[in-house]
Amino acid sequence: MFSSRTNWPLSRNAYTLALDELRSSGTPLLDLTASNPTLCGFHYNSQEILSAFQSPAALAYDPQPKGSPGARREVARYYLDDHHVTLDPDSLFLTTSTSEAYSYVFRLLCDPGDELLVAKPSYPLFEFLADLQDVKLVPYSLAYAHGWFIDFQSLERAITPRTRAILLVHPNNPTGSYVHPSEAAQLNALCAKHNLALIVDEVFLDFPFNPPPLRTFAANSEALTFTLSGLSKISALPQMKIAWLAVTGPAALVRPALDRLEIIADTFLSLSGPAQVALLTLLAQRFPLRSQILDRVRENRSYLQSLLRAHPRIELLRADAGWYAVLRIPSLASSPYNSDEGLAIHLLRQHRVLVHPGHFYDFASDGYLVVSLIAPAPDFRRGVEALLQSTK
Ligand SMILES: Cc1ncc(COP(=O)(O)O)c(C=O)c1O
Repeated sequence: MFSSRTNWPLSRNAYTLALDELRSSGTPLLDLTASNPTLCGFHYNSQEILSAFQSPAALAYDPQPKGSPGARREVARYYLDDHHVTLDPDSLFLTTSTSEAYSYVFRLLCDPGDELLVAKPSYPLFEFLADLQDVKLVPYSLAYAHGWFIDFQSLERAITPRTRAILLVHPNNPTGSYVHPSEAAQLNALCAKHNLALIVDEVFLDFPFNPPPLRTFAANSEALTFTLSGLSKISALPQMKIAWLAVTGPAALVRPALDRLEIIADTFLSLSGPAQVALLTLLAQRFPLRSQILDRVRENRSYLQSLLRAHPRIELLRADAGWYAVLRIPSLASSPYNSDEGLAIHLLRQHRVLVHPGHFYDFASDGYLVVSLIAPAPDFRRGVEALLQSTK
């Protein structure tokens, strides 16, 4: 009855079973995975946000495959104002999520069985996005030595005649590392050599822990480049379902890419009219939200750092941006939990602390835990105190 592409193992794993059990019994948890910004105690200008939908224009239906020209101009203005990059609004497509933008690009570039190179560790949703589009993900490594970097040997080894593009999350979830300018130059050279595109997810671009701002790939002109972002992180408004895709690169590739994408987008006409009408106001929420989030992330990270002075065995991995922290916990193999999932279940059952085990993100080995830095500071403090106490 069902397609093989949806043949996923549907049974719950030990971690989700433990979590379900505690949640259904109403046990309060110290949630160090909290990443829904609407539940993390940030102040939103509710009146301004709600009034953005009051315009009579929200009642009109004006189907535009790329999204309304006015809304696309606002996204182009964001790139100009915040990143000093001039983008042609005609090279932008509005979508309901970056997931949808990914699926447009995968459909544009790949036949069934074609390959995309994806960093390991990285964003766990790629597996499902690729399965749904019949695309094969081939991993390349992010390596760590006092900081994360792309292992170009592993990247080059992963290229085959079926490779169509390199996926980058810039900055990456969960490592908080970004693509350095020298790496971008090497990536462009590889794309030229092997006729590949770049697909760059920049949802965390505006959250560097320290200045200067990170450089967007929306200005990349050497390789065919698809830059994805949206309001779920930029304005901390995931419920609005507004994202986009910018296409840049050599004109001879950009033109046909835009024409083909326009047909894909015309088939769905996804983004709602009211969302497009409200886009200007919703995008403007980024200023107060960005500063609140950055303050929270810095405060939580520095509290974690201060606690770790008493736990020299545990390392907080270097990161430069984003909403997450990665902890390396050595000697897990000789501990009673023997895997990071085992430790996460122990933390949940014995200490009511919820963390993500590193294997969710495809870390190369066991021994990593990922915690969210946007949890309200008192919750975060109690959570990491309990976490560190229990791993003593
Ligand atoms: C790297 C990355 N991209 C995209 C998203 C989600 O974006 P959207 O809500 O636009 O699909 C997330 C959510 O956590 C993410 O971590």
